[in-house]
Amino acid sequence: MSNIKFEINQNIATITFDLENEKINKLSFEVLKEFDEKLNLVQQDHTIKALVIDSAKKDIFIAGADIKEIEQLKDSEEVYEALMNIHKIFNKLENLPIPTIAYINGACMGGGLELALACKYRVLSTNEKTKLAFPEIKLGIFPGFAGTIRAPKLIGLLPSLDLILTGKTVDAKKAYKINLADAIFDDAQKEFMLGDFVQNAITGNLGSRKSFYLLNYPPFNEIIFKRTLKNLEDKVNSDFQAPFKALEVIKANMNKELEIAIKKEAEEFSRLAVTKESKNLIKLFFLFEKLNKNYEKTTNPISNVAIFGNGVMGKGIIWLFSKYLKDVRIKLRDITQAHGIIKDVSKIYDYLVKSRKMTKNQMDFKLNTISYTDKLSGFKNMEFVIEAIVEDEEIKKQTYKQLESVLNDNAIIATNTSSISINKLGSELKNKENFIGVHFFNPVNLMPLVEVIPSKDTSKETINKVLELLISCGKTPIVVGDCAGFIVNRILLPYLNEAAFILNEGSKIEHIDHLIKAFGMPMGPFNLADTVGIDVGYKVASILHEEYGYRMPVAPLIEKMYEAKYFGKKGETGGFYQYDGKDDYVNEHVISMLSNNGKIISDEEIVQRCLYIMINEASRCLEENIVTDASIIDFAMITGTGFPAYKGGLLTYANEVGLKNILESLRKFERDYGSRFAPSNLLIKLVEQHEDFETGEFLWKRWFYYLSY
Ligand code: NAI
Repeated sequence: MSNIKFEINQNIATITFDLENEKINKLSFEVLKEFDEKLNLVQQDHTIKALVIDSAKKDIFIAGADIKEIEQLKDSEEVYEALMNIHKIFNKLENLPIPTIAYINGACMGGGLELALACKYRVLSTNEKTKLAFPEIKLGIFPGFAGTIRAPKLIGLLPSLDLILTGKTVDAKKAYKINLADAIFDDAQKEFMLGDFVQNAITGNLGSRKSFYLLNYPPFNEIIFKRTLKNLEDKVNSDFQAPFKALEVIKANMNKELEIAIKKEAEEFSRLAVTKESKNLIKLFFLFEKLNKNYEKTTNPISNVAIFGNGVMGKGIIWLFSKYLKDVRIKLRDITQAHGIIKDVSKIYDYLVKSRKMTKNQMDFKLNTISYTDKLSGFKNMEFVIEAIVEDEEIKKQTYKQLESVLNDNAIIATNTSSISINKLGSELKNKENFIGVHFFNPVNLMPLVEVIPSKDTSKETINKVLELLISCGKTPIVVGDCAGFIVNRILLPYLNEAAFILNEGSKIEHIDHLIKAFGMPMGPFNLADTVGIDVGYKVASILHEEYGYRMPVAPLIEKMYEAKYFGKKGETGGFYQYDGKDDYVNEHVISMLSNNGKIISDEEIVQRCLYIMINEASRCLEENIVTDASIIDFAMITGTGFPAYKGGLLTYANEVGLKNILESLRKFERDYGSRFAPSNLLIKLVEQHEDFETGEFLWKRWFYYLSY
């Protein structure tokens, strides 16, 4: 098997990565071994004056180490040994006595970037696909092929910390600016420019680039380390060790000899690589990849869309489709709204322009392609119409009637409803097979998750077309069965509700929020409720109550707040907190509404009540075949609610705690607080059979029916 090509032309050797039967290049053990063999050839041939490392793949230099292999490593000693062997190869590359040049035209990630760092020079194409990053932190590890050592030397401490601790990506221009690239040019000029660069490297005619960074040395580096640690402590949960360990390694290795530094990096890396946090994040990475391919390509993908409703969600959806499609039409209630709506959509584009991902001209061009109507003119030709109007069953149904009277029979009608059953909404439609739920999350531009909900009549073709459309627009859809609230809202609402019950009993708002944040959620339940809006939350909670009865009573406090119009961040009167633009402080008006019986419960119980009520509901979703796999719930809760990814998602966390423990707690809570805690049948069964949400898949797989699209 040959994954790497080797040639010598006019005394210049070129090693070209081109993995067999793969779209991308990655550094598996086998590939690294081959690379080592090629380096030996270079070492032995004294006529070679320079070495160029290139890739034959389109838009990819090297995408990184082989994550499958990292996933399989279970023992730290095994990892340490593997790392030491890889270091030998990279050190061999670094020590070659000739100029070594990585030519990077496309993605250069993780291990790929570390390989490039072991070269003397890095030359980048300005192709927009050229991106450099150390994404390891997102997998619960850090660069382990001496990236934490070579990067600070080459580009200085600050930019290195920025790249390594965040996993952020830089383009060719930025890479050149921070000294990560020695030259940049358009790939079309490669033959001439790269040849020139190599000749200049051989003759020693390259101007010297910055190689001394004052901030790498005491006392400056000490200040930087201290501040960075403080920053991490403020922002990152201490259970997620990777960034803390990366910082520790970089600090310990500053200005140390390579050999000593490598040992320290390898020791810490090999411990991290086998943690459950890292394994959870790797599992999530593969799930993301799987979901992004989870459809059958259609012969006539959707090429135009219309959006009906232009409030918070409508505008987000207009933004999304205008970014990816050329033909977007919006229905306005009044034509005079057009200017304001386009202006709001342009604000969503702003961050792309500011971060140089798009020019202002490109943005204007996209905004100009949006056409609008206050009737339904032009809808005859639309292939996909999504409705994002008020959450009201009757109004929505009326809208579909109106739409069906103008649309082509093949057109798909989608609803962005967040809680109403799709079967109910579609019950009066003529073309039921073309109707589907497409539930985006707020804010649409930042949330990758979309719940796609077929009704019992939705055709397979409609599902596939919608998945294809969403994936082509950069979203990660999951297909879920029809039920009120679908997955995320159905599981999240009982949690928000429970927090309100606990508050009403006597615990403090800030304390509950603090405990849940300390668990790893990005914000506490009250902060979240204020962000979503108490009005929206109350409406959804009421719909869920109607549907699920005793299991989801609306906490009386939420009802009182809704009636008194304490809607959260959006209103002037605030919600659980008041917001004066600077500090948030507890809303005393809300406190005065509490019936507070002075019952203070333990911190442990607060967290358990909030989390276990979600786990119980998630278990019912599995029991009812709303999803067919526990990992989909994990994925939905991570990407839809910010459940800590390193804990692997809600149900992986449940397995970790032990279902028996959860069941016992639920039974106790049921006795103390009532039937909303009654354990689900599936949970009871799993405990009886000594299974958990991972091993017990068989329980629902056999009931699996219409979701097999
Ligand atoms: P919004 O209140 O911001 O916008 C509602 C839109 O509906 C406005 O454009 C309004 O002009 C229009 N509208 C109101 N009454 C109408 C009527 N009788 N006929 C036609 N149009 C009418 O609401 P938002 O938040 O954008 O929600 C829209 C839909 O998206 C709802 O179904 C909601 O459940 C769902 N959703 C909301 C999320 C959120 O976080 N706000 C998240 C996901 C889904």
